[in-house]
Amino acid sequence: GKGNYRHFMEKELHEHPVVLGDTLTQYLDPMSRSVSLPKLPFDPVKVPRLTITACGSAFLAGQVGRYWIEKLARIPVDADVASEFRYREPPLPEGGAAILVSQSGETADTMAALHLLRARGQKVLSVVNVPESSMARESDGAVLTVAGPEIGVASTKAFTAQLAVLACLAIGFGRARGTISVEDESKLTAALLEIPGNAAAVLDSDEEIRAMAAEVAKARDVLFLGRGSLFPIAMEGALKLKEISYIHAEGYAAGEMKHGPIALIDSAVPVISLCPSGPMFEKTASNLQEAAARGGRIMAFTDDLGAMKLRSFAERVVVLPRVGSFSAPILHAIPVQLLAYHVAVLKGTDVDQPRNLAKSVTVE
Ligand code: M6R
Repeated sequence: GKGNYRHFMEKELHEHPVVLGDTLTQYLDPMSRSVSLPKLPFDPVKVPRLTITACGSAFLAGQVGRYWIEKLARIPVDADVASEFRYREPPLPEGGAAILVSQSGETADTMAALHLLRARGQKVLSVVNVPESSMARESDGAVLTVAGPEIGVASTKAFTAQLAVLACLAIGFGRARGTISVEDESKLTAALLEIPGNAAAVLDSDEEIRAMAAEVAKARDVLFLGRGSLFPIAMEGALKLKEISYIHAEGYAAGEMKHGPIALIDSAVPVISLCPSGPMFEKTASNLQEAAARGGRIMAFTDDLGAMKLRSFAERVVVLPRVGSFSAPILHAIPVQLLAYHVAVLKGTDVDQPRNLAKSVTVE
């Protein structure tokens, strides 16, 4: 049941710390600060190229996975939505492998991609939440997210658990290939192990996020901006908002603003940015300043350091715990989901069962 929560989605949002802890400790050893992956169906040292494919939020998790795997393990990764992948006749290398991501393990397009990949000689690893699902059974190997049942149609805890698994895979691949050192592994592992506690801190910012939601609920269009591994999280924020509040939203790479979307900016369009301090901060902050100069209403998720600068021109700033750029996408997924939740509640929509949507899309 929903316990004391109003909606399954709210309950599931509050399960983030536990689910992240359970999922991470499955693949990380806190004592030795190292990754221990189950036996994989392919050798990350030999694989020439990886294909990541999935649908919806699971695909967005896969896109973050692409950033991590390319950066830490230096394996070229191709990421595409399953409904495109299955029809675009992709050339697949001999000895290649694929990672599928799915909460249900029953999504029709992702299953079709699985069948195509296997027929083309690719080894398939699935990151899946339902252990007895078709995808878990038919893949060459499965790594499980330990999110428990997710009832709300909008994915929340399953999404962050997918990120947690993909982060562990990226570290494991990097170690196997020698592209990261033992010391790097230990630092990255330690950063991930702090995520459950940080997630709890994010949930404590609920009041501020609700205040932001009150503004966002009045808008017709919303832009979400992020860079690097936060770009897919910007798209996740936009997807979640569309799904449950029916407000039109788009997620953009912050650097793409001046190539089109900046034309939309006026005082009616909230620009929600994922902008923690770190190497890309100045660049994103300057994109935001450009939007502010055109009357845009800037709202930001950042940390204490970022807030010092953003407060001079942002209408609302929510301060999250300061984490490194590696774990930032996991942490930032939570407030954008919470924001969508509060906007939907304010708008009075059916949060757990939004119109026209099914939890698991088992037909094409
Ligand atoms: O069960 P799956 O993870 O394969 O589902 C994929 C998408 O249908 C799913 O993530 C969808 O986009 C969610 N409603 C997002 O909140």
